[in-house]
Amino acid sequence: MQPKLEATGRMASLVGMIVDFCHIMNAQLRFLGTARAPFSVRLRGRAHVSGSGEVVLGEGVSLNGTIVPIELVTYESGRIEIGEHTFINYGSSIAARVSVKIGSYCHLGHYLFVMDNNQHDVVRHSELPPSEPVVIEDNVWIGSKVVILPGVRIGTRAVIGAGSIVTKDVPPRCVAAGNPARVIRHLTELD
Ligand SMILES: CC(C)(COP(=O)(O)OP(=O)(O)OC[C@H]1O[C@@H](n2cnc3c(N)ncnc32)[C@H](O)[C@@H]1OP(=O)(O)O)[C@@H](O)C(=O)NCCC(=O)NCCS
Repeated sequence: MQPKLEATGRMASLVGMIVDFCHIMNAQLRFLGTARAPFSVRLRGRAHVSGSGEVVLGEGVSLNGTIVPIELVTYESGRIEIGEHTFINYGSSIAARVSVKIGSYCHLGHYLFVMDNNQHDVVRHSELPPSEPVVIEDNVWIGSKVVILPGVRIGTRAVIGAGSIVTKDVPPRCVAAGNPARVIRHLTELD
């Protein structure tokens, strides 16, 4: 009985390694010529990278584009940077005309929208307003269906509640939620 269990365990871990390797190769193929992706980046499903800017993915970045692809859009000299070991879930869209910088060890939920430009001036709709860089610092957790607007900085270890619209900076180590997102509690060293 015991040897049979061990064989099953070995088979499961071999299959796991093969699947993991497929996700690494998927990332290499999908990002070939469109993004800088080290050999430790994993992509499940699809990601669309478009535009003439720069997309830089850190070591161990993990992307889930299975149900709905992830979209990374850069314009001209725009730059999207995703820090090491950050995870992005499906349906998320990140657009940079200047800079969207996401830190390391972040967890970004489904259908996240991040943009550094409103794309339309409030008065003259066909004109482009100025861009304002977005920064998401390390170890941030963002719930599903969050929108992060131009110029926002989210501090390290912050949590953003599901469905929030983030219009202003969020300080480190707090939970913010709602539309517009407000701090609902501060996290202590013990949390
Ligand atoms: C924010 C969250 C993490 C809860 O944090 P919490 O500190 O435990 O907050 P609480 O549940 O104690 O709620 C505190 C207050 O914030 C409100 N609140 C919580 N989440 C909210 C949200 N997403 N939007 C608006 N208000 C929210 C609560 O209603 C409560 O209000 P009250 O004080 O008037 O009763 C959770 O509500 C959430 O949004 N999780 C995201 C889940 C998700 O998207 N997962 C996807 C997989 S990555």
